[in-house]
Amino acid sequence: MSAMEDKITSLLAEGKVFQPPEEGSAQAWVKSMEEYKQAYAHSMEDPEGFWAKRAEELVTWDKKWDKVLEYDLSIPEVKWFVGGKLNLSVNCLDRHLTDGRRNKAAIIWQGEPEEDVRVYTYQMLHDEVCRFANVLKKKGVKKGDRVAIYLPMVPELAISLLACARLGAVHSVVFGGFSAVALQSRIEDCHAKVLITADAVLRGGKAIPLKPNADEALETCPSVETCIVVRRAGNEIEMKEGRDCWWHREIHAKDISSYCEPESMDAEDMLFILYTSGSTGKPKGVVHTTGGYLTYAMHTAQWVFDLKDNDVYWCTADLGWITGHSYILYGPLGLGATALMFEGVPNYPGPDRFWRIVEKFKVNIFYTAPTAIRALMREGVEPTQRWDLSSLRILGSVGEPINPEAWMWYFINIGKEKLPIVDTWWQTETGGIMISALPYVTPLKPGSATLPLPGIDAAIYNEEGKEASPNEGGHLVIRKPWPGMLRGVFGNPERYKKAYFNRYPDTYDPEDGARRDEDGYFWIMGRLDDVINVSGHRLGTAEIESALVAHEAVAEAAAVGMPHPVKGQAIFAYVTLMSWAEESEELRNELRQHVRKEIGPIATPDVIQWAPGLPKTRSGKIMRRILRKIAANDFADFGDTSTLADPTVVEQLVDTKKQMG
Ligand code: WTA
Repeated sequence: MSAMEDKITSLLAEGKVFQPPEEGSAQAWVKSMEEYKQAYAHSMEDPEGFWAKRAEELVTWDKKWDKVLEYDLSIPEVKWFVGGKLNLSVNCLDRHLTDGRRNKAAIIWQGEPEEDVRVYTYQMLHDEVCRFANVLKKKGVKKGDRVAIYLPMVPELAISLLACARLGAVHSVVFGGFSAVALQSRIEDCHAKVLITADAVLRGGKAIPLKPNADEALETCPSVETCIVVRRAGNEIEMKEGRDCWWHREIHAKDISSYCEPESMDAEDMLFILYTSGSTGKPKGVVHTTGGYLTYAMHTAQWVFDLKDNDVYWCTADLGWITGHSYILYGPLGLGATALMFEGVPNYPGPDRFWRIVEKFKVNIFYTAPTAIRALMREGVEPTQRWDLSSLRILGSVGEPINPEAWMWYFINIGKEKLPIVDTWWQTETGGIMISALPYVTPLKPGSATLPLPGIDAAIYNEEGKEASPNEGGHLVIRKPWPGMLRGVFGNPERYKKAYFNRYPDTYDPEDGARRDEDGYFWIMGRLDDVINVSGHRLGTAEIESALVAHEAVAEAAAVGMPHPVKGQAIFAYVTLMSWAEESEELRNELRQHVRKEIGPIATPDVIQWAPGLPKTRSGKIMRRILRKIAANDFADFGDTSTLADPTVVEQLVDTKKQMG
């Protein structure tokens, strides 16, 4: 055991609670536990009053709302700031041209190559966004049209989102690591009119072509009339006559002006769709609207990250995920902050890349994922000591439960045992952070997301729908609507109700397991549905299984999560082959490649075990509980197996697994 591991183990054994820093608390947006408690009480007694105040303080409205909230969770239907009008790009850009921030950096972009840096002031970003909005307009994009965006982490990604918001077009970002097949199904689901993509993605010093994926997807996407291509790597690509055009040509065309009139949107007009995995079927198109979403993204960014005008704030997420939408773009830019955007990965060219960037730009607030911390932990402490981290003031974590060891490592080596860590629990569906410490307020317990933010009525319910007693595990639920909540599943109202409002009446069900300790602190345990969280990315077992069975050699498949030291969870797939197919290493590799192609590299199974049969109940349901245990080499107790149709199947699987190790 290293000295660091020793230290972490002994600190954790003490069960210590870490107090928030005193220095800085007088200037913080939320200054004390007292203030938090008051705000929380106000938000529960008079939610409409609380949110109206926040919406007024934070957002510039073209027209004020007539009614703060209208809802009925039994339908479900939720409307915030009814009758209010606003434009998000105006809130993120135009208003900062006259509030003293015109020449302030809005986005500092660090490309993967160290020397590739671009800085956009609010004025510059405003002009680029207007230009691109005019390009979209020229291509026929109108309010309500869907625009699909499939880009690497380049500034054009941020510009695209804001340009859509300016026109009132609905953006649907597809993470650049997804495959052509995944892109195709998302474009098809929302009938996008335009696709924005790039020639390639830079990763680990190499250019990985992206445009061929877009081409393949577009073969069967008749709704897409135009494909706009950003030149990133300069690699040779095909451009389809009449459909494809270059970003840099279009944006600099003579007839493109640097001003574009913003569309005044209804508070409840759709802002974006973001696809995410659930337990069944295809990914769901989570719908967010305009007024409530912006209020919520800004409210949480301000209180949780304590954003101030002089801060350099860095969220390491990709804009292709909700974390990027809310906490690289809309929250920080709404507040007029300076957001750093990074194209690369934590370990290229070396495991000190993050810390080098922190020193280079004197980053004050740093928000990342447990999987990144665990990966960097493996590289030891030395890379963290090469650079000056003294500019940092707040650390954040998101995406999955942060294990106490990783928390302590982050706290000791990056936070130098002084900085608060805000472990933020939330989801694509919640639009913004729901449960989190406030940096100058909340005493911290490593591994706990601590307390719900003001406005969030979080609780733990047991199976009967009663509030669980302290330390009793159960379902995390949210009992009151909040402005950032999803308003639907695109094109599928039934799924909206079924997925989120079915378990308990009039209550939002995030499908996460959790407990609350004797101090009321929340400890999130992880997904209760068949979603695997791989490095903070949500993947549905159903998606992986349907990709596997799409291969001709596969008769049946079951995917489960297994514990993984860096990724949190890894994918373990049990595969039953067609009788004619032969088990081989070659076929195993072929199947892994096949899933990669169908969904994307993040969905590649880590382990495939051949299974002559799968454990099923007599009614034909796969008993995943057993499969999860076998995958984790936990053969001791399979619980109640009396409903198994054929118990010998389990013995066989266990034998094979024992041989595999
Ligand atoms: C998990 C990412 C514990 C959780 C913002 C949730 C977390 C899912 C945390 C949402 C956290 C996210 N502690 N678990 N701090 N943050 N999760 O939609 O299971 O990509 O339901 O949103 O990630 O993932 P999503």
